[in-house]
Amino acid sequence: MKRLDPSRRILLADMETKGLADCKVFESRGGYQALKKALSMPPKDIIETVKKSGLRGRGGAGFPTGNKWGFVPQNSGKPIFLLCNADESEPGTFKDRLLMEKNPHRLIEGIAISSFAVNSHKAYIYIRGEYAKAASILERAVEQAYSAGYLGKRILGSSFDLELVVHRGAGAYICGEETGLISSLEGKKGQPKLKPPFPAVSGFLGCPTVVNNVETLFTVPWIVEHGGEKYAAYGTEQSKGTKLFSISGWVNKPGVYEEELGASLKDFIEYYAGGMKGGAKLKAVIPGGSSTPPLTAEEVEKATLDMESMAKLGTFLGSGGIIVIPDQLCLVKLVERIAEFYWDESCGQCTPCREGTGWLYKMVASIEHGNGKEVTLEDIKKTGRNMMGVTICPLSDAAAMPILGFVQKFPDEFLEHIRAKRCPYGETH
Ligand SMILES: Cc1cc2nc3c(=O)[nH]c(=O)nc-3n(C[C@H](O)[C@H](O)[C@H](O)COP(=O)(O)O)c2cc1C
Repeated sequence: MKRLDPSRRILLADMETKGLADCKVFESRGGYQALKKALSMPPKDIIETVKKSGLRGRGGAGFPTGNKWGFVPQNSGKPIFLLCNADESEPGTFKDRLLMEKNPHRLIEGIAISSFAVNSHKAYIYIRGEYAKAASILERAVEQAYSAGYLGKRILGSSFDLELVVHRGAGAYICGEETGLISSLEGKKGQPKLKPPFPAVSGFLGCPTVVNNVETLFTVPWIVEHGGEKYAAYGTEQSKGTKLFSISGWVNKPGVYEEELGASLKDFIEYYAGGMKGGAKLKAVIPGGSSTPPLTAEEVEKATLDMESMAKLGTFLGSGGIIVIPDQLCLVKLVERIAEFYWDESCGQCTPCREGTGWLYKMVASIEHGNGKEVTLEDIKKTGRNMMGVTICPLSDAAAMPILGFVQKFPDEFLEHIRAKRCPYGETH
């Protein structure tokens, strides 16, 4: 198996260090040296370095980070903003929380370097409301960084100024979508905006804005310190580097682990997560958070943790939230829960999403509770297909894709419920 040696870790290298959330401890581990180096470089060279690294956004969409930064117009006459997306609300995903709680200064360092690269003097960390502990840790770390001269005016004696604000969200999944996040930060309802214009050109308060995920920004100091080529030496042709995976479900050791992109999914489940709990048989895996279509046990055998492999299997690496499903678990019940989540979280702006998420939930629930018909399955497919690619933001697609995936890959389980007029796994399941 392709397995990342602990000495080659990029993201979790220092995680065992006691008190790492303290600025002094972070400095003693070489912290803020990459910022010092970055401030001596022309900003366009930092963007080039990040382009060379092949780093792609870790928030789910996998957009090349250096390219995104390159799109920011430098002559608009407007201020440029950098927003760190710490909303992390996709079910099954909890990697950013670990980074913020254990190593907040590395995130601050990544934000400072990235802001310098795109010529931003004001950055925000938009953190989900439920992450109260992580938010407090970040607030303290930001205060320390101001006192130590890593934030504020004339950072480390340079001419670069940066103000960084930690902003707590109010707990809405849609505020993780970048334009929903921007609306919320502007003090409006957290509703997404039509693109184009893209945030890089017209984002927060109508100004050029870079939105990047926590893990993406957290990776930047290592790339600046070691060079883009060194980062690109990890991973596969189109999926460079390492990535954090949060694994949950029916495994012995759920948690957050770092692995090189391209590693075997099956080995990952065995090696890091300690395999299936109680020796249970694997039924399915959701590979990248609840919005990604599932893999069957057979597909898991050949899947590797990279964007190419997942695309070939009709799914996505997404946020890296791996959910492991055992044989004894009812998939219809699981899909009912997923559908309910998206119905609840739809912002209601677009009709296909507002209505479609509710219809999907009700149809799946009817099957689970013994009232479904074979035609219900066809109606689920039709509704799901009509929700894709037709709304302002992809929450509608995110709701439809996993449901369509389960219905297509596990039709027998749905049919079994329909024919038996009850859940074969029992109501208490
Ligand atoms: C419904 C929805 C929810 C999202 N939630 C998050 C989130 O919680 N965190 C995140 O980083 N990106 C999330 N995204 C992706 C963001 O819109 C955006 O692509 C990302 O923040 C860009 O950063 P990156 O390029 O570093 O990945 C979400 C997207 C959608 C459609």
